[in-house]
Amino acid sequence: MKKWMRALPIDERVDALLAEMTLPEKVGQLNQPANVSPGPDRDALAAGRIGSSLYASGALGGNVRDEGLSIRAIEQCQRIAVEESRLGIPVLFGRDVIHGHRTVFPIPLGLAAAWDAELVERLCDVAGSEALREGVAWTFAPMVDISEEPRWGRVAEGFGESPALSGRLAMAAVTGFQRHIGATAKHFVGYGLAAGGRDYESVQVGENTLRNLHLRTFKAAVDAGVLSVMASFNDIDGTPMHANRRLIREVLKQEWGFDGVVVADWSGIGQLVDHGVAADARDAARQGLLAGVDLDMASGVYLAHLESLVGDGEVPLDLLDDAVRRVLRMKFRLGLFDDPYPRTTADPIGPTAATRALAREAAVASMVLVANDGILPLSDQVESLHLTGPFVDEGEALLGTWVLDGRGADVPSPLVAFTDLLGDRLTHTDGRFSDLAAHRTRAAAVTVALLGEHPSRSGEANSVADLGLPAGQLEALKQLCGLGKPVVAVVFGGRPLDLAEVLRVASAVIVAWHPGTEAGPALADVLFGRREPSGRLPMTFPRSTGHVPSSVHARATSRVLDFTRDAWDGRYLDALTQPQLPFGYGLSYTTFRHGGPVASASEVPFGGQVEVSAQVTNTGQRAGRELVQLYLHDPVAEVTRPKLELLDWQWLDLAPGETGTAVFTIGTDAFGYFGRDLTWRVDQGLVRLITGRDATASAAVEVRIVAAGADE
Ligand code: NOJ
Repeated sequence: MKKWMRALPIDERVDALLAEMTLPEKVGQLNQPANVSPGPDRDALAAGRIGSSLYASGALGGNVRDEGLSIRAIEQCQRIAVEESRLGIPVLFGRDVIHGHRTVFPIPLGLAAAWDAELVERLCDVAGSEALREGVAWTFAPMVDISEEPRWGRVAEGFGESPALSGRLAMAAVTGFQRHIGATAKHFVGYGLAAGGRDYESVQVGENTLRNLHLRTFKAAVDAGVLSVMASFNDIDGTPMHANRRLIREVLKQEWGFDGVVVADWSGIGQLVDHGVAADARDAARQGLLAGVDLDMASGVYLAHLESLVGDGEVPLDLLDDAVRRVLRMKFRLGLFDDPYPRTTADPIGPTAATRALAREAAVASMVLVANDGILPLSDQVESLHLTGPFVDEGEALLGTWVLDGRGADVPSPLVAFTDLLGDRLTHTDGRFSDLAAHRTRAAAVTVALLGEHPSRSGEANSVADLGLPAGQLEALKQLCGLGKPVVAVVFGGRPLDLAEVLRVASAVIVAWHPGTEAGPALADVLFGRREPSGRLPMTFPRSTGHVPSSVHARATSRVLDFTRDAWDGRYLDALTQPQLPFGYGLSYTTFRHGGPVASASEVPFGGQVEVSAQVTNTGQRAGRELVQLYLHDPVAEVTRPKLELLDWQWLDLAPGETGTAVFTIGTDAFGYFGRDLTWRVDQGLVRLITGRDATASAAVEVRIVAAGADE
């Protein structure tokens, strides 16, 4: 038996295999063409020139469904590679399994609104298991970009604006996926800062902000053992990420010790020519490899040029070997050498009753009630209900962006779910304001208007210049609301929208994102109060498009900007600065009273811990879930720090009248940050710990960090 097939430690197997490889075979491992198939690619597979492949419907966005995966084609390709190539190295097959595979869960921004890492882990486990059974060994998720810019369509794919929330969900996603397939933390790094929210645009950001904000989620994913990291399409201050040696080779690989694969984004290495930093494809390949991008997705420039670049001494062989080692290590880690073929099963892949139940739970947990004059929850005894809007009988459109394998036919639409409940007490119209819509609104006890964005208006390359609802929707809503009957607005979408007018005219508003396979039933659960709404916004909803950026972690400035007062603060002449809906915001069908935080000690030595607790009472008539959010404010630091930084959160399930206590145990490392010299530090002195229901919280307790042993 070849040494690399023996049960040795992985790095020994990698070295043994590498020692046998020719230069063309090594380069083949770094080549990742899209959509390989056993016919046209037979020779390349047999020659060991295709190390991996991704099955994708196109480079843009994943909003175009393809025919689905062909397990047979994957198996045939693998057989050629394993049985006919000289060394029998298996191919790594990847696909974008983003928020579900056959069973589709809410879009990641919606999942973030559930503030529940355990839920994310469970559903990524399901997605990974479904994908594995169709021959997929690797996904390009989770996206852990910090979202600053609601105009940017890709905020739908990420977990929002807080590094603490996003980082913890990223870890959970990695753990869930990697029970079955490899995961990818993407896009490294700064992509969420695309100028003007225009996809792929240039990014200007200093390394201090990168380290304190944007790199943190990647570090979390690396700490969780993510097998790969994808480079991003943007440049940072003039250096495209696919050529960014400083951040990829020095920070990610050397400083953090990441020993997995750095994969290019689609044609990202070849596109160094379009960036205008590489003279031609050969130069692009040289820069990509030197920067530390191991795997060339879709551009083919490594295959075409790495051999001659090594031969001419322009790329050192040890760097090429390092890249190959990483790819082989990942294949060993995934068990591909021992078990290379798709693990097909007779069981249905999904959606099954169990995965539907999880999809419904996740969709319910993602929905955020942002206004309610008391009309909600509706009674299922309601005399009559009028359902209107472009999403009334939609399944497909409620799956969300980046769905390659979910099928609209699997989704019970809102119309189906509401009909199940109300029978002929339900009427519906398509959302255009018409005589019929007016008549049905007047005739019904309540109207539910399903508004918002189609998924093709969010995701990759789908940015908008205006955060308002799509054309015509607000006008129709206002006309309906003018008829004197209650109207509940449900807003679907992949980003924070400008909801100012919707909030002004509607009786209640729910932000429902794109909920996935169980869209209709989950919406009915929440509207009819069978389940309590508990989602909380993972991104700030700005007052208008002109207010972007307005994320929670805005740094302290030279003149105080008080987010807690609903008053003019001097930042704009023509508008208040405060967000329309703050980060963390969300209502319930009951009410809660928060007590201020209490700390277990007023001083905590470096390396020690402090307990902060806060009492919450359910002051309403219904049982409910409340999210206690814990924020940090560091009044004096070496660099400007966020006015508020989310540290932690805790759910409390409370019966009417019940009081519960959220207890947070915080180590002093949580107060740390990267200083002026870009190194991590924790300062002595006071910090303020703030608890409450959202980012307008102000009840604080002060704790002093002191030198270790100071109290002895
Ligand atoms: C381009 C996207 O930016 C990335 O997120 C995706 O994983 C790849 N295409 C592969 O489809």
